[in-house]
Amino acid sequence: MDILKRIAEYRNREKELQWEGTFAEYLDIIKKNPRVAQTAHSRVYNMIAKAGIETDSQGNKKYLFFSKELFGLERAIERLVEEYFHSAARRLDVRKRILLLMGPVSGGKSTIVTLLKKGLEEYSRTDEGALYGIKGCPMHEEPLNLIPRELRPEFEQEFGVRIEGNLCPSCRFRLQEEYGGRIEDVIIERVLLSEDERVGIGTFSPSDPKSQDIADLTGSIDFSTITEYGSESDPRAYRFDGELNKANRGLMEFQEMLKCDEKFLWNLLSLTQEGNFKAGRFALISADEVIVAHTNETEYKAFIANKKNEALQSRIIVMPVPYNLSVTQEENIYKKLIQQSDLAHIHIAPHSLRAAAIFSVLTRLKESKKQGVDLLKKMRLYDGESVEGMADIDIEELRNEHLDEGMDGIDPRYVINRISSALIKTEANFVGALDILRSLKEGLDQHPSITPEQREKFLNFISIARKEYDEIAKKEVQKAFVYSYEESAKTLMDNYLDNVEAYCNWQKIRDPITGEELEPDEKLMRSIEEQIGISENAKKAFREEILIRISAYARKGKRFDYKTHPRLREAIQKKLFADLKDVVKITTTTKTPDENQLKKINEVIKRLVEDYGYTPASANELLRYVGSLLNR
Ligand SMILES: Nc1ncnc2c1ncn2[C@@H]1O[C@H](COP(=O)(O)OP(=O)(O)O)[C@@H](O)[C@H]1O
Ligand SMILES: [Mg+2]
Repeated sequence: MDILKRIAEYRNREKELQWEGTFAEYLDIIKKNPRVAQTAHSRVYNMIAKAGIETDSQGNKKYLFFSKELFGLERAIERLVEEYFHSAARRLDVRKRILLLMGPVSGGKSTIVTLLKKGLEEYSRTDEGALYGIKGCPMHEEPLNLIPRELRPEFEQEFGVRIEGNLCPSCRFRLQEEYGGRIEDVIIERVLLSEDERVGIGTFSPSDPKSQDIADLTGSIDFSTITEYGSESDPRAYRFDGELNKANRGLMEFQEMLKCDEKFLWNLLSLTQEGNFKAGRFALISADEVIVAHTNETEYKAFIANKKNEALQSRIIVMPVPYNLSVTQEENIYKKLIQQSDLAHIHIAPHSLRAAAIFSVLTRLKESKKQGVDLLKKMRLYDGESVEGMADIDIEELRNEHLDEGMDGIDPRYVINRISSALIKTEANFVGALDILRSLKEGLDQHPSITPEQREKFLNFISIARKEYDEIAKKEVQKAFVYSYEESAKTLMDNYLDNVEAYCNWQKIRDPITGEELEPDEKLMRSIEEQIGISENAKKAFREEILIRISAYARKGKRFDYKTHPRLREAIQKKLFADLKDVVKITTTTKTPDENQLKKINEVIKRLVEDYGYTPASANELLRYVGSLLNR
């Protein structure tokens, strides 16, 4: 990539997007595309819808606008979009309320807001999301606000566009002073939303409540020019640069809203209710913006418990943003967070994140009252697994049992932090499931908000996660071993049959490599036969029967295959799995493995590395661990 070239391209693109013209020309634009004058809420909704909506067979909606960054929150997001943005876009009453995202720490609230902000910046640069403002207006206000009240009904009739706002004090003044009241000459420009430039996107973050100045929200008198203009009510002596001014046409994020001093909230009350706010010695100032705040449950409960906040409460619409409750999605969250962190280059052994995810999700779930549904089963059902005996359980019903499910528990960032500290501890150059679970356990003591009872419960979840991981690990090793299963089974059977033939015919057997004549390998034959309970006394009959079968097959010109003899097949399979156990066990013993075993181990490790995403070190570790499990 040629960065200088890309910068030039970027600059050109931004330049191309610029447009300037008179109000008269703006009217032509509106005629062609009335959407440019839509409200901020409507623009946000259209932006979300534009990204695409997928509906699954159960009718659940997935909004692609959010789904690239947020996993497992489909239900919360569907509610947020439908109940707030969609309704607000249709000018329903919710538009007049502050959107308050309520959820546990690190549950994705800020991410939702960031996506909306970034989305708006981009959307305002597209034809569909384009918007225009009065040039020079500190609030980049909608040019249609220039149209006098008396003429609006007529305009609305003709253009099909509703006008809600009043001209801001600054534009009102300039219209007279600079344009001599000639609205049609007022210069209009395209507005490109940008958080960095403070155009249409703002963030208000209350500092110390005592020193916080309302000016941060609504602008302030400009003391450097006040003597020049002589009056505080001269708009030239006022800076309309509060966050509410700057976020006009777009979105303002209100951080820590509920911690904020009441006087700030009253300003918002009027803004949301009437679409205007009071600033300095001016008439009410119109603003058209989405206000999004976020909070946690405890803070919100304290807020509503306070009688003084009643009026505000009815002006707020609360949307829950709970933790994700799907193990698979939780894994995806970790992968994303790791990708974004300085852990990205570290090898994390396969299934380690799943083990952590199982733990996290368990801490968030609430017991069901339904018969036979324990937490582990619930966890599987939520993750879309089919659980034996639970085929017809209604998952929606399960979810509705506790409306506050997902509002507490372990947060994803905590897990990432524990992975980091596991990494610091280990001398190896990778982290495995056990390292992570151990680190999660150690971290529980330092976790700020865990009670002793919770700790007890969480420790139990860690051991459940560990057991789940054990099963996964065993299956993994078996899979790696069985990869060349057919081949191994065939080799073993050929070997067995050669020996059986020699045994029945009182012959010796020739070693294929050394050419040496050997007695039939009794130990090998017995190790297979014992798998299906053939006694020392019965072995001769069994071997002879097999030999007869082979010759019967040969006469018909068919090849004898271990699959054609069900008992032999069973014996071979069992022997292979017993060998697996042995092979794996051997890696845990201090005794040095023999050549064959070593070969097998290396094969399995190679497979784990090539096909299953391990490194040689983590594969060795897995084998050692599964070996110890099998030895128990
Ligand atoms: N459900 C989720 N899907 C994807 N990422 C998530 C999810 N929940 C949290 N995260 C990630 O965890 C981090 C913390 O989330 P954040 O949005 O700051 O939470 P909050 O504002 O609720 O405290 C972010 O990087 C966020 O993207
Ligand atoms: Mg946050």
